[in-house]
Amino acid sequence: MKSLLIANWKMNPQTMDEAKALFEIVRKNIENNQSAEIIICPPFVFLSTLSKYFKTNPSVGKKNIFLGAQNCFWEEKGAYTGEISSPMLKNLGCSYVIVGHSERRQFLNETDEMINKKIKDCLKAHLKPIFCVGEKEGEDMGFIVEDQLKQGLKDISNNQVENVVIAYEPVWAIGTGKPCSPDDAMRAFLFIKKILAQLFQRNTAEKIRILYGGSVDSKNANDYLKKIGMDGLLVGGASLNASEFLRIVNRVESAGL
Ligand code: PGA
Repeated sequence: MKSLLIANWKMNPQTMDEAKALFEIVRKNIENNQSAEIIICPPFVFLSTLSKYFKTNPSVGKKNIFLGAQNCFWEEKGAYTGEISSPMLKNLGCSYVIVGHSERRQFLNETDEMINKKIKDCLKAHLKPIFCVGEKEGEDMGFIVEDQLKQGLKDISNNQVENVVIAYEPVWAIGTGKPCSPDDAMRAFLFIKKILAQLFQRNTAEKIRILYGGSVDSKNANDYLKKIGMDGLLVGGASLNASEFLRIVNRVESAGL
């Protein structure tokens, strides 16, 4: 299976022109990449414009580049000022949605219950949620991640869960330049697999993709993909620098993953 490389642009860049330019450089340079599925997650305000590339160029989105959102609301429509629904995102051409990112848990007080509702709503709209879990500095990885997985995936069936992607993102590694060591990432990867096998049928659990995120760059990308065998990467800061992001893509390609 192809590696998933998620570009989480967060609240960047500042203008549509910059967003279009960044998207175009990445798109043009990955056309022939066969090893990775690349998902660009820009801020909401750029989604509509970037989705036009997918409509005007039929090969985009069919091969290896997809559009994702950084958040969604759990209701389909109605009086929810400022929110965006999963069906709206689906209609725009999104395939994935990041759900439960630690920055939303921290700054917007997103709870596990809200995250569970969002995951269910994404699945209903045929969007793939990228469900982020991870402990803060000083917290016990196993204790926190088990709880987040159990609550976030509550009442989700075996059939549905195959479309969920899990991203292990230790909070202390995000945006700090201090990535998780391969040993610790391996421990978390195996732990998440174990919990998923408890929650779902074994053959279903084995199909759920598990990514790593937190200070990923072109130097450490293969530590997680090749050495540990994780299914992909969630890239924040490095995805805003087109050449560095393309180097990460090339690492995946040259490793033949
Ligand atoms: P980072 O962000 O790569 O800048 O650490 C990762 C993320 O928050 O998704």
